[in-house]
Amino acid sequence: MGEILLDVKDLKTRFRSRGSLLHAVNGVSFHVNRGETLGVVGESGCGKSVTMLSLLQLLPPAAQVDSGMALFQGLDLLKMNFGQIQKVRGAKIGLIFQDPMTSFNPVLTIGDQVGEALIYTLHGH
Ligand SMILES: Nc1ncnc2c1ncn2[C@@H]1O[C@H](COP(=O)(O)OP(=O)(O)OP(=O)(O)O)[C@@H](O)[C@H]1O
Ligand SMILES: [Mg+2]
Repeated sequence: MGEILLDVKDLKTRFRSRGSLLHAVNGVSFHVNRGETLGVVGESGCGKSVTMLSLLQLLPPAAQVDSGMALFQGLDLLKMNFGQIQKVRGAKIGLIFQDPMTSFNPVLTIGDQVGEALIYTLHGH
């Protein structure tokens, strides 16, 4: 048994749409030990992406975490304020977004992402 790095318990995330509620993630629990690789497999729409977006507080406005906890280094990711979760994103927990070649990265500003190509073109590096 290794040291537990990430401990997710009973995560529930739902979407509000036209007055009704969609339970996209309904009581998911898992943990990841140091040095361990965990693969999550399931049919399309079963909630894999929404689970991971919940952990990094990157859900779209229509979604909200209802309950559960996600302990990472002793702190609950789901309860972190903006400054705290921002320090985790990319630095401690990286996320490769689905279909990354055709999407903007929601963690960076549009200015940075659009500007990057111009800067590299103008400066040649
Ligand atoms: N922006 C959204 N608005 C409303 N419902 C959504 C939204 N994003 C996801 N959902 C719903 O949440 C559920 C889980 O979707 P999710 O994207 O997590 O599936 P997934 O397991 O990642 O599927 P895939 O294998 O296709 O990537 C689905 O029923 C989906 O319809
Ligand atoms: Mg997905």
